[in-house]
Amino acid sequence: MTMEKQIDPQHVAIIMDGNGRWAEQRGMPRSFGHRAGVEALRRVVRHSSGLGIRYLTVYAFSTENWKRPRREIEFLFGLLREYFKKTVEELHAMRVRILMIGDMTPFPADVRELAAKAGQKTRDNDGLRLQIALNYGGRADIIQAARNLAGQVLAGTLDPAAIDEDCFARCLHTAGLPDPELVIRTSGESRLSNFLLWQAAYAELVVTKECWPDFDGAALENALAEYRRRDRRFGSVPRKK
Ligand code: IPE
Ligand code: IPE
Ligand code: MG
Repeated sequence: MTMEKQIDPQHVAIIMDGNGRWAEQRGMPRSFGHRAGVEALRRVVRHSSGLGIRYLTVYAFSTENWKRPRREIEFLFGLLREYFKKTVEELHAMRVRILMIGDMTPFPADVRELAAKAGQKTRDNDGLRLQIALNYGGRADIIQAARNLAGQVLAGTLDPAAIDEDCFARCLHTAGLPDPELVIRTSGESRLSNFLLWQAAYAELVVTKECWPDFDGAALENALAEYRRRDRRFGSVPRKK
């Protein structure tokens, strides 16, 4: 009997959900949960770095989150300001490279500037590559890739027959990254909510019970253990056990 070991994922993506409920369970305002969520992110980035995960993509603000009350959105902008100001040094010391995916155009100029600076400062780091999805939507990502390709066709620099999956993927916000092998969603919700629709085509989905502020290194390792138990067939037949 041969035991094939499931190789650990290179790219883990996380839908950080449940901040509001976590706070409400404690009789606190939703903002309290968002603040605790930032601490959870710091913990998980540290732990992921230590585990040797290459790419970590976290969903922080979706294209649908604009539907939230203005006050909550403003609070999230404030947290982003703080995060970029306080955490960049720590990330840099861990050799983490930080990037944003999504369209940050509607964000306040100073938040965009802080994000750009964080990217600039850490651009040559060779550790974990942390991607923060801000005003990200899987559909918006696919649309902007389609527009880009249509422009190239119109300019006469691309033959439509040459558009294949690799060519398309190179136009997405995640260009150059392997697809996530594992997508984790916290707080018990089993949906993608418009996250990485193209990229997660064959990802293993792991839904955890705890709300995001309670997620920690042990919870991450449990999700990885669950991933290792999965039989990834990619449309083929079961692997020999
Ligand atoms: C996730 O937690 C954080 C963001 C989407 C910004 P939620 O704010 O969605 O928390 P719940 O799902 O309402 O509990
Ligand atoms: C998804 O969570 C977006 C982020 C975690 C940033 P939501 O809480 O916004 O998604 P729904 O409303 O449960 O689908
Ligand atoms: Mg939610």
